Amino acid sequence: MTQRKAYRAAILHCTDDPREVDVDASHQYFEDGLLVVEDGVVVELGDAEHMLPALPKNVKVATYPNALITPGFIDTHIHLPQVGIIGSYGAQLLDWLETYVFPSEARFVDPDYARAQAELFLGELLRNGTTTALVFGTVHKQSVEAFFARAATLNLRMIAGKVLMDRNAPVCLTDTPESGYLDSKELIERWHGKGRLHYAVTPRFAPTSTPEQLALAGRLFKEYPDLYMHTHISENLQEIEWVKELFPDRNGYLDVYDHHGLIGARSVFAHGVHLRDDECQRLAETGSAVAFCPTSNLFLGSGLLDLARLEEHGVLVGLGTDVGAGTSFSQLQSLNEAYKVLQLQGQKLDPFKALYLATLGGARSLYLDDKIGNLKPGKEADFVVLDYHATPLLRHRLSQAKTLRERLFALIILGDDRVVMETFSAGVSVHQR
Ligand code: GUN
Ligand code: ZN
Repeated sequence: MTQRKAYRAAILHCTDDPREVDVDASHQYFEDGLLVVEDGVVVELGDAEHMLPALPKNVKVATYPNALITPGFIDTHIHLPQVGIIGSYGAQLLDWLETYVFPSEARFVDPDYARAQAELFLGELLRNGTTTALVFGTVHKQSVEAFFARAATLNLRMIAGKVLMDRNAPVCLTDTPESGYLDSKELIERWHGKGRLHYAVTPRFAPTSTPEQLALAGRLFKEYPDLYMHTHISENLQEIEWVKELFPDRNGYLDVYDHHGLIGARSVFAHGVHLRDDECQRLAETGSAVAFCPTSNLFLGSGLLDLARLEEHGVLVGLGTDVGAGTSFSQLQSLNEAYKVLQLQGQKLDPFKALYLATLGGARSLYLDDKIGNLKPGKEADFVVLDYHATPLLRHRLSQAKTLRERLFALIILGDDRVVMETFSAGVSVHQR
């Protein structure tokens, strides 16, 4: 039992998708708010002036002037072993994988290296205000072992899995259908459901798995309750052509995964930039989710995700950084680029919708919205304190803003790790700037 604590600042969180309700009804805002936390859970949220008189005298109140508290950010697609190759020049997806990614992932054969990288990676997530992420490891068990061990120490709600890859990759990075299945099973038995951790069955993408491996991945996905499935789909046009050649009997890219039992609730597909309408329909009817990764899609020249089309089909969409094809750990920067990706298609990303995508929308995509995604009483107390005065430019720009909407939008466009003053996981401070 931990002591009750209170946090006083402006507080903003989403209660609904602005697509489903009037945008003004999609969030709650307290200009002078108070968030009360006990045992890692939100117990009360409201106006400080109303709540303070009734707050027991022994409850400590931390006050943050010129700051905004929001839920912790949720990253629905990122790679642990790609931190060292962010910003690698000049290639599109398939060449980029060969040239930069595979050599970087090969280093995780060393458990000491994996541990050091897991610490760096989780540190970066927290510095950027991300409290939950869906994470690709490498083919090596020890990558995921190192990640979960560190995440457990910090009591973070995290999802990860060992990569399954049994062809079209360097030999040192391949497993076999059987070894991939058994190694995953071992990790599931050890970590899935332990504390706040979850396991994701993680075939890299269709081209690097044989049908035998995909079939065993599908079996695993059904064998344990609440398991995730995490992979890539329809990111790049050459990739899609390759999938057609490798799986001539299947009716397109999604059908490869569908045929092997890899779609449904808790399955998350990164990118989906070039999905067909019938594929969007199938994702929607099965409760599968797409991770929108704008910084990555721009960096690799993959294409522009048509968010409006996915949402018209009813597909669940979360936001991902996709580091290291993505160029920032900051979900504020993902939103900055998402805004531009949608501008180029004549779509508008409302600032409250943007916050939704980075918080409650991510939680819904991961079927974790009963636990995280906003600050309603009963939710886990994962939250961030964002500094309105983080830089001279931000301070000046926000002083000109007349409305919350304007302030939030400028914060998203100008913000990054510099604005994250403090990050809390289950009510405990895990990063101070
Ligand atoms: N498709 C298969 N593997 C990868 C990867 O590591 N990153 C991205 N962006 N796409 C992929
Ligand atoms: Zn990726």
